[in-house]
Amino acid sequence: MPDDLLTRLIRPDIARMAPYTPVKPFEALSREMGRDPADIIKLDANENPYGPSPRVIEALQSYPWYHIYPDPQQTELRAALAEYAGVPAEYILPGHGADELIDYLCRVLLQPGDVVINCPPTFGMYDFDARLSLGQVIDAPRRDDFSLDVAGIEAAVAQSQGRARILFLTSPNNPDGGLISRQDLERLLALPLLVVVDEAYIEFADAPSAASLVPQTPNLAVLRTFSKWAGLAGLRLGYGVFPLALMEALWKFKQPYNVNVAATVAGLASLQDLPTLRARIQLIKEERERLYRILQEIPHLHPLPSQANFVLSRVEGRSARKLHRRLFEEGALIRYYDKPGLRDFIRISAGRPEQTERLTTLLRRL
Ligand SMILES: Cc1ncc(COP(=O)(O)O)c(C=O)c1O
Repeated sequence: MPDDLLTRLIRPDIARMAPYTPVKPFEALSREMGRDPADIIKLDANENPYGPSPRVIEALQSYPWYHIYPDPQQTELRAALAEYAGVPAEYILPGHGADELIDYLCRVLLQPGDVVINCPPTFGMYDFDARLSLGQVIDAPRRDDFSLDVAGIEAAVAQSQGRARILFLTSPNNPDGGLISRQDLERLLALPLLVVVDEAYIEFADAPSAASLVPQTPNLAVLRTFSKWAGLAGLRLGYGVFPLALMEALWKFKQPYNVNVAATVAGLASLQDLPTLRARIQLIKEERERLYRILQEIPHLHPLPSQANFVLSRVEGRSARKLHRRLFEEGALIRYYDKPGLRDFIRISAGRPEQTERLTTLLRRL
């Protein structure tokens, strides 16, 4: 077989793509850092420091049917989600994380050259998945304070000359934790495209979800996840609230077993233990506020108010990249982005109080 056969068979756009730089697995990182995982202050990925509800662990241990394929329609999980999200089950589609649903939306809506409007700085998967689906991305960058530039988004749609299909919005936004106002959302819903509001962090916000608007709004989709509030990031469970016309297409399109049985069992058990999980959400929100106040007092750092489980801080008068590196050497993981608009920032997830203590002692010392 000629050596270059596969080179010719692989899609040229994929062959040209820059390789993905994966986040190192936590165990490998702890070996590289020469530290016990328990000693590492891991505040870089907005994970839930309290982990899953104890009911999830019990339910996973006692579940007897792992050898049987999952229910492709996720009937029981969708019924429980309907109650939790306050929207009938027919509007709800679970996914292997919200990430899978972002990919599905791009693949169902985009034909080659169609346009996705993205509002950076924001979560990276919208841009990534749009390009994988041969979409074109037009950026409508956020303002310096990370608020949406609504007129800029409208201009980007006009620039697409009728090819804009999806607008990705994030509320609270990652990395700053700011919300979209209802007024801005309503104005953007007048655009002739699908408006996706990614609410991965909405459980930490003092604002209602937009999910209940979906049944009466033909071009609104809302994405949610169990990764953050329910501590199930490793099990991969998200869901979307989609208009019925989109549901019809997604049912035809989705992989039958996209959500595995363990994630389903864990999701159901989480929804049966809301008081425990809500008490933890409250602890995380309090910790976020405390972290914000502490960061305000640290020279060189200017934190932004956040409605999510993390705080973004501008670093002034010193290098954010070096600060991130020095913290890494001391066993503390925070997020630094080598990206336009974010090079002078660090993002810190709200952890347990003792993690905040250890991190802020380091920040004061370094
Ligand atoms: C805004 C946003 N959406 C979605 C996700 C991914 O969610 P999931 O873990 O359900 O794929 C993240 C994860 O960091 C995120 O920040």
